[in-house]
Amino acid sequence: MLDTQGYLVLFLLWFISIILIKSFVTRSQSLKLPPGPPISLPLLGHVPYLGSLLHQALYKLSLRYGPLIHILIGSKHVVVVSSAEMAKQILKTNEESFCNRPTMIASESLTYGAADYFFVPYGTYWRFLKKLCMTELLSGKTLEHFVGIREDEVEAFLRNILEISTTGKAIQMRQEFMRHTNNIISRMTMGKKSLKNDDEVATVRKLIREVGELFGAFNLGDIIGFMRPLDVQGYGKKNRETHHKLDVMMEKFFKEHEDARSKSGDSERKKDLFDILLNLIEADGDNKLTRESAKAFALDMFIAGTNAPASAIEWSLAELIRNPHALKKTREEIDFVVGKDRLVKESDIPNLHYLQAVVKETLRLHPTGPIFAREAIRSCQVEGYDIPQYSKILINAWAIGRDPNHWDNALEFRPERFLETEEEHEKSKIDLRGQYYQLLPFGSGRRSCPGSSLALLVIQGMLASLIQCFDWVVNDGKNNEVDMSEEGRVTLFMAKPLKCKPVTRFVPFSSV
Ligand code: HEM
Repeated sequence: MLDTQGYLVLFLLWFISIILIKSFVTRSQSLKLPPGPPISLPLLGHVPYLGSLLHQALYKLSLRYGPLIHILIGSKHVVVVSSAEMAKQILKTNEESFCNRPTMIASESLTYGAADYFFVPYGTYWRFLKKLCMTELLSGKTLEHFVGIREDEVEAFLRNILEISTTGKAIQMRQEFMRHTNNIISRMTMGKKSLKNDDEVATVRKLIREVGELFGAFNLGDIIGFMRPLDVQGYGKKNRETHHKLDVMMEKFFKEHEDARSKSGDSERKKDLFDILLNLIEADGDNKLTRESAKAFALDMFIAGTNAPASAIEWSLAELIRNPHALKKTREEIDFVVGKDRLVKESDIPNLHYLQAVVKETLRLHPTGPIFAREAIRSCQVEGYDIPQYSKILINAWAIGRDPNHWDNALEFRPERFLETEEEHEKSKIDLRGQYYQLLPFGSGRRSCPGSSLALLVIQGMLASLIQCFDWVVNDGKNNEVDMSEEGRVTLFMAKPLKCKPVTRFVPFSSV
């Protein structure tokens, strides 16, 4: 039972919320906002319309209210973008106004106060991080420099699968893909693998999953400001616990580097991203990083480099298994371009047009970041509608990839659409870098994904070797049906992880 003080607190909360809603409604009425569902609940806004798969719920709303809609999440203005035309308005025409990302309780807790590259506000510090990222890790030249690491990891992956194939057992592919992508990003950033055994892979996978869940959670504290300190759902506590685990992991990586630096003469060691970050922590002047921001930056690379590419490989293999015609064409192309006596290499990819189309088609239907968010830095107008300052902008890449105005038979997996050259369908020019607003898996503009080139090399390279070296049997060979239902808000994963049996088709090594 509540005591008198409890009732007084409840009364005050009720009173304050009524005043807030009144002033908010009066302010909103003077604006011309984009259309949206008419009924919104006090305090929650349109939250009840949003299911656990946010991109699907928003897609359904867009079918009813159009490609630019306005909803309220709590008292926050949220604008949802679901067509190429509207995305262009936000990401190109009005780019300057939408270069920030909205933060939330989870991003503040998990990324050292939103000090990471992903959430940091647009400006000088963001430019510094972008330059650091591009010069030291993700530029074309650096990616070229690391080709040996990626090919080495593909070979290690294939050897492992070749061994498993002798047992005749089916395996869950996601764990293997995450190990592969994590090995690559770890070796690129810290010069060695960070995960030594299956237990460590499983622990990191769980941790990354927790991060995704916390970022995707509907925390009442984000929705109703005054609920924040109350933490009624316990997300605040979970954020702190997960942050602690992440911090322990990042500290361990930094400490290992510090120890290695102090043991060997500095000049003897090969430098990697962690050494550069340590130098920046020790530096003076404008280019200085705090230890926290260095950890936040490294964490972004670690998570983004592991999660999304692994998910994309899983979706693409699943699509090829359930579309034997596309699988056959991918394989024929590899056999034609590469021949039958050596393993496909990254340098073959420019000649593997069908393979590239398969990956485009996969990311059209299953963009692993189904929604990406921006924030209005200032009030502005889009298509004659007012977008108030600090509105959250949700770009639904998943919905855009299904827009029938741009994609014939949009739900069909048909990589050929990217190879058509007849004038009216010239889809062959469409690339994934954000110049074509009907296909935005990596976003677009200044804040688009800096890891897209690395991701594509990893996804295409791995997929090509999976197809060249193995047949993939699902459901004990009874049929090739794969459950394509989805889970996840931040990274889109298959709800039922792909499980299949590898059957060796080509052994590219002399000794296994
Ligand atoms: C399939 C793989 C990937 C997908 C689908 C993906 C998707 C995205 C998307 C949609 C955005 C937001 C873009 C925007 O707002 O316009 C983004 C941003 C970002 N991505 Fe990726 N990404 C992938 C892989 C990677 C990799 C491998 C890295 C780094 C190792 C990376 C690092 C980042 C960072 C740091 C940002 C924030 C950029 C900024 O705010 O300026 N991503 N990514």
